[in-house]
Amino acid sequence: MSAAEHAAERAEARWVWIVAAIIALLLGMMAYMSLHWITMPPQRMETVNPGTLHLAGEFVEANLGSASEADGSITVRLIGSQYSFTPQCVLVPADTPIVIRATSADVVHGFSVTGTNVNVNLVPGYVSTFHARFQQPGEHTMPCHEFCGVGHAAMWAHVKVVDKATWARLAQQQRRLSCAERS
Ligand code: CUA
Repeated sequence: MSAAEHAAERAEARWVWIVAAIIALLLGMMAYMSLHWITMPPQRMETVNPGTLHLAGEFVEANLGSASEADGSITVRLIGSQYSFTPQCVLVPADTPIVIRATSADVVHGFSVTGTNVNVNLVPGYVSTFHARFQQPGEHTMPCHEFCGVGHAAMWAHVKVVDKATWARLAQQQRRLSCAERS
């Protein structure tokens, strides 16, 4: 074997080790991350029993809609179910921090609010939380964006943003607000 052939063989052997080391590193990272996530589930994950939403707890019907909190923010609670949202129309004040808390009573739903970055998935058994702020008064549509069955295309609600003065007046009359007329 010539000196050049020896040199080529050594270079090949070196690259075999380098490639093997890269593969080993990637596999090691995958194994480490898998174990890491198993031992440390997301801390803020909240669960809820989808079968008893209407009976007790945070998502009973009387507790749905928008409510003022002591810190000046608004909490909006809503439920998605085949094939509607409750409430059907969400009422919120403009230029105010909004916390949306929502879940599903049956299958996976989701919603986005047109013209905003609001985009939430509703998974039965879990509480979805989303922070939003609507700059201007106005109306938005809120369609379900996860295919949830034959009625999916007809599943949508509204968001009505009112100015702060209107909100304050309405909030004096009632603790939970929505603009929906439900039957
Ligand atoms: Cu609910 Cu699609």
